[in-house]
Amino acid sequence: MKVYAIGNLKGGVGKTTTTVNLAYSFARLGKKVLVIDLDPQKNCTPFFTKASEYDHTVRDVLDEPDSICDAIYETRYLLIDIIKGSAKSMKEEATDRLKIALDIIKEDYDICLIDTRPVFDSLTKNALYAADVLLTPVKFDNFCRDNLSMVEDAYHEIMDENIKLEWKVFANMTANAKAQRVSSMDLLAKHDYPFMDSCISRTAVVDNALSLYKPVAKHRSGSMVAEDFIDLAKELLEG
Ligand SMILES: Nc1ncnc2c1ncn2[C@@H]1O[C@H](COP(=O)(O)OP(=O)(O)OP(=O)(O)O)[C@@H](O)[C@H]1O
Ligand SMILES: [Mg+2]
Repeated sequence: MKVYAIGNLKGGVGKTTTTVNLAYSFARLGKKVLVIDLDPQKNCTPFFTKASEYDHTVRDVLDEPDSICDAIYETRYLLIDIIKGSAKSMKEEATDRLKIALDIIKEDYDICLIDTRPVFDSLTKNALYAADVLLTPVKFDNFCRDNLSMVEDAYHEIMDENIKLEWKVFANMTANAKAQRVSSMDLLAKHDYPFMDSCISRTAVVDNALSLYKPVAKHRSGSMVAEDFIDLAKELLEG
């Protein structure tokens, strides 16, 4: 099982959108996927299943890693399971809890995607400690250079504990995907941030799909942005 933590210290850059649409794309490519909603906002969970107050959640997994199987639910999509989010995920805790839990079920899935919140706290550290890859969506604007430099610092801090962690960055919300990416890359030219070739177009299809709690490919199967997410998934599978 390859574990991706979808993370950025900036809010609203598309972490949840990426988690949802990559999960759906990997499943379309025949991969068995586990989604973990580690953000106390729980934005990811309703895209996949209903939640009730009696559910086991990621909070239970962090409290008792051995109980992870009780917290895994099937979703409305074939090949995708979920560990639901919890608003109670706020306390300080050891950073190795999620890793201990995921080691128990690592043979059961091809891919695990963890949606995180834009704070470098013990919750996010649990995701980064368990992950093989920190996958960072970035929205190109005047602030993105400072934003990426903060993520880079966090990445290096966690590398002290998780030496195998790779960092991959991709551009989200690009107008005319490839063209803008080239011009935006000039902005970052002096840095060697690990940008992927794939990028995700900005389009109202994403917001429309979000308002229906659907992956974009479910909402508009032939749309360019649905293809963008498939391309991103394929590039990740290539390594
Ligand atoms: N490629 C895109 N095109 C258009 N809108 C997008 C795109 N990606 C994300 N958005 C919109 O940006 C908003 C924020 O997206 P999302 O919730 O995924 O961000 P986030 O990083 O998870 O935010 P938070 O930090 O609050 O968890 C949403 O309204 C979403 O529809
Ligand atoms: Mg989010």
